[in-house]
Amino acid sequence: TIKVPDAWGSRVGLVLAMAGNAVGFGNFLRFPVQAVQNGGGAFIIPYLVSLLILGLPLILIEWSTGRYGGSFGYHSTPLMMRKMGRKAIWMYVGVFGIFSNIAIASYYCYMESWTMSYVFHSVVGTFNGMDQHQVASFFSGYLDVTTSTTGIPFEAIVFFLLCLSLNVWILSKGLSGGIEKAAKIGVPLLIVFGIFLAIKGITLKAGHDGAVFDGLKGLNFLWTPEFSSLANPKVWLAAAGQIFFTLSVGMGCIQAYASYVKKDDDIACNAMSAGFMNEFVEIVLGSSIIIPIAVGYFGIDRVIELTHMGGLGLGFRTMPFLFAQWGPVMAALSGVAFFGLLFFAGITSSLAMGTPVVGFFQDEFGWRKGRAAIGFGVIILIIGLPTVLFFQQGVFDEYDYWAGTVALFVFAMFESIMFAWVFKLDKGWAEITRGSDIRVPLFFRFTLKYITPVVLIVVFVASLIRPANDDWSKISVTGWSLHSESILGQISHQGGGPNNTYFATNFYSEVDGMV
Ligand code: PHE
Ligand code: NA
Repeated sequence: TIKVPDAWGSRVGLVLAMAGNAVGFGNFLRFPVQAVQNGGGAFIIPYLVSLLILGLPLILIEWSTGRYGGSFGYHSTPLMMRKMGRKAIWMYVGVFGIFSNIAIASYYCYMESWTMSYVFHSVVGTFNGMDQHQVASFFSGYLDVTTSTTGIPFEAIVFFLLCLSLNVWILSKGLSGGIEKAAKIGVPLLIVFGIFLAIKGITLKAGHDGAVFDGLKGLNFLWTPEFSSLANPKVWLAAAGQIFFTLSVGMGCIQAYASYVKKDDDIACNAMSAGFMNEFVEIVLGSSIIIPIAVGYFGIDRVIELTHMGGLGLGFRTMPFLFAQWGPVMAALSGVAFFGLLFFAGITSSLAMGTPVVGFFQDEFGWRKGRAAIGFGVIILIIGLPTVLFFQQGVFDEYDYWAGTVALFVFAMFESIMFAWVFKLDKGWAEITRGSDIRVPLFFRFTLKYITPVVLIVVFVASLIRPANDDWSKISVTGWSLHSESILGQISHQGGGPNNTYFATNFYSEVDGMV
């Protein structure tokens, strides 16, 4: 059968789609919480180092893998990896690049659907006049699928279905007709919304019970370097974990997008542009919204405590209450800006997760776009429903841990080994630089060969040596003083309590008496 492969409509569209892929909940909910919990300013140096030695090298690997694979007509990682690694085993490694997307999309689309509902509730003013406890428990009520906050029965499921259908519909329109349009609308809008909220956040002077706090202090806290915690491996692991998640590396979705780039078109400059857009949104906007606004009301010490409930708690339980303090009009505007921003950040990421799956169905089964997109929707529905129905039992966290942390890390490690040592760096470097509009610094050549794979292997091996019950205190008797869980566990368990994952979850325990 002759298939006309899909293609990107324009370079701007491609870069915005890749930026939209990277910019997600991670930038606004996860990054600020990670930074606060890891000492504020102390986090930023390990973060930037991880960006340089892990993040940027990996996006170069993934863009070039994708474009290379695409030149053979492959649009998902299994066949790309087999082609480059020349052994069947690499195909199985490549399966991660489909599996992880399905698993992450299953809970990510669910979060995305909450933002739709919260936009609605911000518009109609649901949170106005509620006290803090009511706003916080509203979220638990929403997540309990049997209660309804709008009068629609099984509301959380209804929004989930709506959100999933929207994703399927956009995916069925293909790249230039669907994803690119979504990115051209979503990315600029989320930046505008973000700037509006950031200005609000850093100029905020509020407080409670007579104490006056200043939002700008929150920003200062994130940016005042504190060198002492640089020696703390936990901070480094948290920083590296954040870099992985935020840049969407180790997933297979960058490769899928890049597989539609023409053989001699630039990738290095595009990759760097999209990567830096993500970093701008994360470092500048991500640190100027939830933390400064919360600090403006509660002060820093209280906010450090609040971050133990993680990004989801701050975003969905605390923010709507704080917006409501600004009067009904500003509350509606801010709520729409905040949850709208999260919605656009989310959907441009979930579309990226769908693309390798849709591509796989098209390549392997010869399905058309529409059918492949529906196939993706059905899979997400089946796999995602447990996160909806059993949220409180921790299914969401399990998905997040295994797919959003472990799988992505392992896949990135294999990719970096395969690229530099099996495909061979000379060929790899030629792939990265062909058609490039920038000179890629030679620093990356050295890093791709030695630093990135070695760092990933070391962390991985360390994570396998885990004592019974994750009880590292027993190990420390032998002089090895890592006390806590496995290293991979630590990457994701930064959020606070023992069962915390990426976005956090102790909502059901700690959140209520917030002030
Ligand atoms: N990078 C996105 C974020 O920061 C998450 C994501 C992961 C997107 C995997 C696509 C694939 O939220
Ligand atoms: Na991101």
